[in-house]
Amino acid sequence: MNLKEMVGIKAASYVKDGMTVGLGTGSTAYYMIEELGRRVKEENLDIVGVPTSFASKEQAEALGIIIKDIDAVTHIDLTIDGADEISQTFHGIKGGGAALLFEKIVATYSKEVIWIVDDSKMVEKLGKFPLPVEVVPYGQEQLFRLFQEKGYNPTFRMETEDQLRKTDSGHSIIDLNLDVIEDPIALALELDQTVGVVEHGLFNNMVNTVIIGEAHGPKVIENIR
Ligand code: 5RP
Repeated sequence: MNLKEMVGIKAASYVKDGMTVGLGTGSTAYYMIEELGRRVKEENLDIVGVPTSFASKEQAEALGIIIKDIDAVTHIDLTIDGADEISQTFHGIKGGGAALLFEKIVATYSKEVIWIVDDSKMVEKLGKFPLPVEVVPYGQEQLFRLFQEKGYNPTFRMETEDQLRKTDSGHSIIDLNLDVIEDPIALALELDQTVGVVEHGLFNNMVNTVIIGEAHGPKVIENIR
């Protein structure tokens, strides 16, 4: 079993009958959704899933998990998602799979958030992983230049050599190649206030529990807030 599968299965064990569950996106969340599908079939687990992407919705539906749109539920008990980097102060970068906007909305309205990662994602300081910024296409070249002027080393995320990657909402992604983010709170505030930015991949202190895949088994750490 690979580390992503190990943490995906472990995280799915936190899901109980009657829960409304935010379903993350990515290659680690994939295993969690597969395990939930297995439990729905084999254990009659009674849950509602709120997907964070079209891909996760499609996967969950194919497995027989009942799916509802975020605006069709009154609450979300628990969201389980992957992450690209997590610092020791529980700040994170997400959006490697371009689903950051829906992921952040679903996490915001969840009572509990679990992130599942392999141990390579745990870092001293954020920033080696390029920070995804979801932007409105209108004026995106202006925004790109602004990021260049600020020294943020932006790159447009591409689908093919000459086609931009589009998110599920039809936005573009500009990745900021920062190398190190000394102050994630200040940077998040700055990006929140930048016109044309829809959302960014800094998920500061939004997680309750991190399940880390290590060679000898999953390690669980709690963010005491
Ligand atoms: C998608 C995400 C993913 O959770 C993140 O990129 C981790 O993905 P993976 O589990 O495939 O490494 O934020 O937008």
